[in-house]
Amino acid sequence: MRIKIEKIVHGGYGLAYHDGGVLLIPFTVPGDTIDAVCAERGNPRFCWIKKIVEPSKYRIEPKCPNFTVCGGCDFQNIDYIYELEVKKGILIEDLKRLGGIDIGCIEDIDLIYAGDQFYRNNVQFKTDGEGKVGFFMKKSTQVVHIPEGGCLLVDEKINEFVLDILDGVDFKRGGFRVRSNRKGEVFKKGVPGFRDDRYCYYDCRDFDFRVDIDGFFQINNFLYEKWLDRVIEYIEPCEDDFVADLFSGIGFITIPVANYVRKVLGMEINGTAVKNALYNAQVNGVDNCIFKRVDVNRGFYVKEKPNKIVLDPPRAGISEQLIKEIVELEPEYVVYVSCDTSTYARDVGILYKYGMKIDKITLIDMFPRTSHIEVISRLVFI
Ligand SMILES: C[S@@+](CC[C@H](N)C(=O)[O-])C[C@H]1O[C@@H](n2cnc3c(N)ncnc32)[C@H](O)[C@@H]1O
Repeated sequence: MRIKIEKIVHGGYGLAYHDGGVLLIPFTVPGDTIDAVCAERGNPRFCWIKKIVEPSKYRIEPKCPNFTVCGGCDFQNIDYIYELEVKKGILIEDLKRLGGIDIGCIEDIDLIYAGDQFYRNNVQFKTDGEGKVGFFMKKSTQVVHIPEGGCLLVDEKINEFVLDILDGVDFKRGGFRVRSNRKGEVFKKGVPGFRDDRYCYYDCRDFDFRVDIDGFFQINNFLYEKWLDRVIEYIEPCEDDFVADLFSGIGFITIPVANYVRKVLGMEINGTAVKNALYNAQVNGVDNCIFKRVDVNRGFYVKEKPNKIVLDPPRAGISEQLIKEIVELEPEYVVYVSCDTSTYARDVGILYKYGMKIDKITLIDMFPRTSHIEVISRLVFI
């Protein structure tokens, strides 16, 4: 059937209407007219491109030969500046549809972005035991071998390391991890013939951070400092503040913020991350932050009320119990950072019901060429 792509929605699918039903088609661009092959039923119905009849003016030639086969990218075929608008559109729509919130138009969302290539500092490579080293196909466990020049999303030092060892190493079925930092150092785990690194090290502003080789750190080498700058700007730290940093990881927000305020309390479920956070605070000479190992979604107990709260949860977002507890503390600001617009919209929708509203919002494109969206926002009581 012949259809026209109206827009891109959550997950990176192009959306079209047909006979009153919704069709979702991967790897399409708004404005494309295509002939599509569609699943028999479903609403939405999933379809695939059979032929591009009239390409969108925003369509570009993908630079990666593996695009559409490899599961890593969704948007190699879209002009990058337009991709940013697409992402803003998804954020606005998710807030409306899942949170019942109208934040206005795309101009009302601040935007931070850098290059769209070679940004990833942490990569889990997959191996099939038959010579392929790369990434899984979309919704499959089949391995797609990395292209000749390396992966376009991956830091060049990681590409160099992997391309160098491709011929000499006997990879069993499974995988290995390679990470890099802005100094060009490479860290690895699970590469046959190489010693595993236990930690990797990053720097930001004037701070040094130790992270477990499998531990969480912001993955965009070009943007993580700007990300932190924006988070701190939204906190507006003052000398007397007591800030609670929930989902604090290795203290990437906690430690720099402590420099501006009276006290910061970091709360984190992962014991190894807490250990590294304590180590990081000590190494950086910061003594006014405390770290607690706690599942904040089950609630947290504080003797003293924090006047500002930062939330940077994983994709699942936060629990209703946590939202209630935050609201009861009546903080001046809640800085909510999210890497998933659907759970973000759900949670913010609930915060609105308790009388809060978005005061400032930024889309920071930490994951170019993929459909993942990172939001930094500040909520206040009306
Ligand atoms: C997106 S990361 C953010 C970490 C940190 N803010 C940073 O920028 O490096 C989310 C963190 O939340 C932690 N986490 C996940 N579920 C949690 C929970 N229920 N309670 C506390 N921490 C949790 C994860 O272990 C992870 O360190």
